[in-house]
Amino acid sequence: MPIANGFLTADQFADEYFFELQVGACPKCSMVQLTELVDRDRMFHANYAFFSSTSSNMQTHFRDFASSVTAEHLGGPDPFVVEIGSNDGIMLRHFAAAGIRHLGIEPSANVAAVARERGIRTISEFFDEELARRIVAEHGQADAFLGANVMCHIPYLHSVAEGIRILLKPEGVLVFEDPYLGDIIEKTSYDQIYDEHAFYFSLASVSRLFAQHGLEVVDVEPQNVHGGSMRYVIAHLGARRVSARISALRAKEAALGLQDPASFAGLRRRIEESRVALVSLLQDVKRQGKRVVGYGATSKSTTVINYCGITSDIVEYISDTTPIKQGKFSPGAHLPVRPYEEFTRRAPDYALLFAWNHSAEILERERAFTRAGGRWISYVPKVQVSG
Ligand code: SAH
Ligand code: TYD
Repeated sequence: MPIANGFLTADQFADEYFFELQVGACPKCSMVQLTELVDRDRMFHANYAFFSSTSSNMQTHFRDFASSVTAEHLGGPDPFVVEIGSNDGIMLRHFAAAGIRHLGIEPSANVAAVARERGIRTISEFFDEELARRIVAEHGQADAFLGANVMCHIPYLHSVAEGIRILLKPEGVLVFEDPYLGDIIEKTSYDQIYDEHAFYFSLASVSRLFAQHGLEVVDVEPQNVHGGSMRYVIAHLGARRVSARISALRAKEAALGLQDPASFAGLRRRIEESRVALVSLLQDVKRQGKRVVGYGATSKSTTVINYCGITSDIVEYISDTTPIKQGKFSPGAHLPVRPYEEFTRRAPDYALLFAWNHSAEILERERAFTRAGGRWISYVPKVQVSG
C-alpha cells in the first residue's frame, strides 16, 4: 500500500513509496496493530493533506468535546489544557476563545500554521516523554490532556503514556478518542486500516497499556464519528471513581470476542467478500456506460481503492473540498482529485461514497443530486446502492 494521505503530482509517481499493510493481534496483551510501520516523517510533515475542519459535523463534535471537558474537568484556578494532534485547531479554538491556557502539539507544520493564524498556541513537534518534561518545566502540569484520532497513530506509545503520567496533575485527566476495534469488526470497516493507524484499540488493550504507567481508564463513551469511535477518560491510578460503564464494556468486549482469533478470521473473510461485491458492482455499472465519481478523497479510500484495484477507467475522479488535495492524484491508483465544484457542475450517475463516515452531512447537502436521480454506492457495513 502507498501512504494513505500521500496525494501526489504526476512527476512524483516514479518515486512513490509502498509498504506491506498487515495487521496482527497480540494474544498476550490484546493489542491489535500494524506489523510494518511507516517512518513518521513520511506521513506527518509540512505538506500534510488532512485538515480537520473540512467537515461541519466534526466542527460541532469538537465544540461539544471542548465544552464537556471544560464543564467536567477544568474547575480549578487557571486551568491548563494540552492537546496532541491538534491539527488546524478544530478543538483548541474553543479553549482559546474562552481564554483558557492551552497548548497544541502538532508536528505537521502546515496545519499547525493554520492553527497559529487562528490565535491558538501550537508547537510543531512529535509528543513523547522528553517533550512532556520540557512542557512541565515551562508551563507546569496539565489539568486535561486531549487527543482525537492521534493516539492510535503513535507507535512509541509507552513513551507517550509515560509523558502523560509526567504531564498530568494528580487530579488531571487524559481524554482521547480513536476508531474502535469493536466497530471495525462489526461493520467490516476495513478502510480504517492504513499506515497512520498503527493501532486498533479496545478497552482491553488501552487499559493494559496505561496500567503499565500508573494510569487507569475511569470512563468510556462511544462516539458515532469516524464510523464508530471510543472516547476513553484516564486518570492516575486511584485518583478518580471508576464508572460502571467500564465493567459493562469489558463484558461486551468479551461477548463480541474482541480477543478471539475467530473474530479476526471472520473479519478477514468479510473483507474479501466485500471486495468481490464492490468490484462486481462497479464493473456492472461501468458496463452500462454510467459515470462514477468518488466522493471524498479520504485516507480510508486509499485502502479501498488499492485493495480492490479500482482504476481511473472505473472511477473518473474523486471530488474533494480540500485545496491541498485538488489537482493531485490519489496514492497508488492515481485517480485524479478534483474540486467539489466539478461534481456540482456535471453530476455523475453514481457517487462512490468514500467519506461514508460523514454520510449524514453529505446526503443532506446532496439532496438535489439524489432527487435528480443520482445514486450512491457505499461499502460499509455492506456493499449497496441507494438513491
Ligand atoms: N485531532 C484531529 C487531527 C487528527 S489527524 C482530528 O481528530 O481531526 C492526526 C494528527 O496527529 C495529524 O495532524 C498529525 O500531524 C498528528 N500527529 C501525528 N503524530 C503525532 C505525535 N507523535 N504527537 C502529536 N501529534 C501527532
Ligand atoms: P475523513 O473521512 O474525515 O478522513 P480520513 O479518512 O482521511 O480520516 O475525510 C474527509 C475528506 O473528505 C476530506 O478530504 C474532505 C472530504 N470531504 C468532502 O470533499 N466533502 C464533504 O462534504 C466532506 C464531509 C468531506
